[in-house]
Amino acid sequence: MQYIFMLFLCGISLFGYDNLRQKALSKGLRPIPKDFETLRSEVDDKYNPLSREKILLGKQLFFDKNLSRDRTIACTTCHDLKKRWS
Ligand code: HEC
Repeated sequence: MQYIFMLFLCGISLFGYDNLRQKALSKGLRPIPKDFETLRSEVDDKYNPLSREKILLGKQLFFDKNLSRDRTIACTTCHDLKKRWS
């Protein structure tokens, strides 16, 4: 009985996720591309071209606590990877 209930709950959450995903897609939101070339084709700017070096610099800065006044906070302090950057 508990097993059936768990399956029911999983079904609801999967349906909810799928619903939310469909809603986002219908509003024009798209998933972040998984490969570099597709990402580049979607976000590149001819006046400020994307490069691997810039992406790596951004990643480094995102985790750098030296950007805060007392050197205790980085972007990732609030935008936690484990919470999907929220
Ligand atoms: C002290 C916590 C905190 C830190 C540190 C922080 N953020 Fe945020 N950030 C937030 C909050 C809260 C919001 C949502 C604000 C809102 O929606 O009104 C946000 C929103 C954003 C957004 C907009 C997201 C969206 O969907 O519109 C971006 C981009 C962002 N932050 C990038 C950064 C970057 C880059 C850094 C580091 C330089 C950083 N944040 C550091 C708390 C933080």
